[in-house]
Amino acid sequence: MKRLQLGVLASGRGSNFESILKAIEEGRLLADARVLLSNRKSAGALEVAARHGVPALALSRKEFESDEAFDREIIRIFAQHGVNFVVLAGYLRLLTPALVHEFPNRILNIHPALLPAFGGKGMYGHHVHEAVLAHGCKVSGVTVHLVNEHYDAGPIVLQRCVPVVEGDTPEQLAARVLEQEHRVFAEALQLFAEERVFVEGRRVYVREK
Ligand code: GRF
Repeated sequence: MKRLQLGVLASGRGSNFESILKAIEEGRLLADARVLLSNRKSAGALEVAARHGVPALALSRKEFESDEAFDREIIRIFAQHGVNFVVLAGYLRLLTPALVHEFPNRILNIHPALLPAFGGKGMYGHHVHEAVLAHGCKVSGVTVHLVNEHYDAGPIVLQRCVPVVEGDTPEQLAARVLEQEHRVFAEALQLFAEERVFVEGRRVYVREK
């Protein structure tokens, strides 16, 4: 077992971030939330951090020369806080290779659909659930995956199915998926804390307990 020292990146409301903090507080996840960084000043995630006493900072991309310079600042702040594992909890920016390579197979993202369907650029938030319904899917779900330089493309760690119910609105489907997101993200992180995850190419193997 190795306590994860989490650096969290978030752009929005922060409910997944809060689910992780709850799992830590309830002893279901062996980790410390070291710092939360948001690229949006108005992100709810910043309030979540304040409520739980997690150091937090808003960083604006506009104040940096390039995407890489922005990510280098993230790397610097993470190092300052002793981060050894990165969580993307509703983070809407693509990571540059500099950041991806700083934490090899140590960056997790959560996506509110069953990848590789309904992922990629522009597929976030309500866009995902609208697309799932428009396609007539009978199931949707959650994917927790490792992060590389492409949107929603890294090796899959864990997936969970959620039924699509006839007459669902995107909001109803989103709520059903979100409930699972809040369970699964901490579960996936705990597998890393327990050092049970092995990655071979695109495949992720989880050792039995
Ligand atoms: C979630 O649906 C997550 O899957 C996606 O962005 C949304 C973030 O919600 N990556 P929240 O900010 O965690 O409440």
